Amino acid sequence: MSEIERYLDSKLGEDVDRRGFLKLSASAAGLAALAACGGGTVTPGPSGPTGAEFKLGIVLPYSNVYAELGSSITNGIQLYLNKVGNQAGNRKITVFKEDEKVSTDDAVAATKKLVEQTSVDMIAGYVLSPNAVANRDYLTSNKVPTIIANAGANVISRAKKSDFIYRTSFSNWQPTHPMGSYVQDKLGLKNVLLVYANYPAGAETAQSFRETYTGKFAAADVAPPLGYTGDWAVWVSKITAANPDGIYVFLSGTDSVGFLNKANELGALKNIKVTGSGFFVEQDVLGSVGDRAPVGAVSGLHWALTLDTKENKDFVAAYRKAYNKPPDVFAMDGYDTGRVLVDALNAVKGDTKDPTKFLAAIGAVSFKSPRGDFKFDAATHNVINPVYIRELVKDPQLGYTNKVVATVAGVADPGK
Ligand code: BEZ
Repeated sequence: MSEIERYLDSKLGEDVDRRGFLKLSASAAGLAALAACGGGTVTPGPSGPTGAEFKLGIVLPYSNVYAELGSSITNGIQLYLNKVGNQAGNRKITVFKEDEKVSTDDAVAATKKLVEQTSVDMIAGYVLSPNAVANRDYLTSNKVPTIIANAGANVISRAKKSDFIYRTSFSNWQPTHPMGSYVQDKLGLKNVLLVYANYPAGAETAQSFRETYTGKFAAADVAPPLGYTGDWAVWVSKITAANPDGIYVFLSGTDSVGFLNKANELGALKNIKVTGSGFFVEQDVLGSVGDRAPVGAVSGLHWALTLDTKENKDFVAAYRKAYNKPPDVFAMDGYDTGRVLVDALNAVKGDTKDPTKFLAAIGAVSFKSPRGDFKFDAATHNVINPVYIRELVKDPQLGYTNKVVATVAGVADPGK
């Protein structure tokens, strides 16, 4: 069994729980919620919404390297929609899901199916940077209001900014930009090796690091293919050979699980400071690697499970209750995506006939999120994020998790 198969296999039990929960929540919230889970069209009851159904199309990966990310974002969106009874602006919200998979062809086909066959009112999702970029022109020319809930491609906030697209997650530049100088000045690293999945999100992360880290690099970047299913020893041994004083990592999903398991088995990270953008040590990964977690790793991200705010504690408790596991950053981005949709639909009183007005309402949404203050940057349509610098610890109550050691407030993509 390959690394990716083992990881997905270990997740199967959780999926059964998740489906079990969705059934339960549907019966609790009534027929409208059942429809929102894909159960078909339902005539609203006397006290339910009387406006036309609002069809939300979701394009997220439910297979391959980022399957767990897609599942978490979906859970987060659904959690928020359940909280408001799956309705806003007097319209019942019904969710339709398609698998983004990995390739741009699959992601474009998934989008077209939702737009042309299901006639959705809006699209939310996209995990992979190239998939957000590949869909951008189609969504824009078809005037489809869209919220990107993960994919960090910088260009979406820059040259390819679209009137029809907002992003609730991050640009690839954001979580890493404060980290280059932190690694150099606060951690004192002088000879770093960059380790990242070899595709645009990895390359943009490396570029962002280079903007604020001015020290030496120990060797050429270590860049395994995205969704690597071979022997990770090939890549881990390059780190040992380069003998850096620290590494800066961008990996996520099964890539991070495969990398951390092998690095631990070979003892490759024992004398190296491990740093990175926080995806490689997020709760989805920590739940899979167990005692092979790189305790002491320092990472930058716009959320941490341990954030001590009312909004975050409420979110974490609701998510645990619903899904019987802790959320991760992807679930939080999904939850905020659900909130942006609901607030905007309420603001226009359910009237989305004029996409320009609906999009203006989306852009104006601001609230106290589990991540901290949430608002969009009008110049880029990208969320302005806090970046938390986190240290991986083994907490007596929470197990392996990231505690916040510093905060950089209001990090906005430069837009060029
Ligand atoms: C991306 O492709 O943009 C991405 C994927 C996973 C985590 C973060 C970014």
